Amino acid sequence: MCISRSQVRTNIEHIADRINSDYEGKEILFLAVLNGSFMFAADLVRKIKPLCRITFVKVASYQGDTSEGIIRELIGLKEDLNGKHVILVEDIVDTGFTLGHIMKQVKSTYKPASIAVASLLFKPQSYRKSIAIDYVGIEIPNNFVVGWGLDYNGYGRNFEDIYVVAEE
Ligand code: IMP
Repeated sequence: MCISRSQVRTNIEHIADRINSDYEGKEILFLAVLNGSFMFAADLVRKIKPLCRITFVKVASYQGDTSEGIIRELIGLKEDLNGKHVILVEDIVDTGFTLGHIMKQVKSTYKPASIAVASLLFKPQSYRKSIAIDYVGIEIPNNFVVGWGLDYNGYGRNFEDIYVVAEE
């Protein structure tokens, strides 16, 4: 499978159109989750018409003793999200555990006016959460993909199309 650059661009434009109409007259604060979302976030915000700002966060993952196995900590968030219309920007939502942790941490610390999720890619077959992904670019099967910011061991983020990593 390969998702072409034109498919990706078209889908990002669709997301931007929907956000532009949903948030007309409101100010948006995009919260982009690094590293993978840097390219999608850059493409998306350039198509946004309402007043907006963007800030970047990272998720530090380490082995824990939770039922999900891995503790994910949100780092680098310096913005006050109270009263803001926040859109989380993800490169890909797979199991949704990362998204679940981010949502939990944001909601336990702040009271945003609204919070939505935009993800370039979504793997519905792997998804284990019930949080709505409000703006999905492309749904994909349960394969590991690289390109357009997504990596395999740090490589492949620069690919202009999205490819499935071949299994041995
Ligand atoms: P989740 O917590 O299982 O939803 O996984 C989210 C994170 O795993 C993403 O933000 C990516 O960093 C990484 N990830 C999941 N699937 C892929 C993939 O197919 N390619 C590259 N990274 C992936």
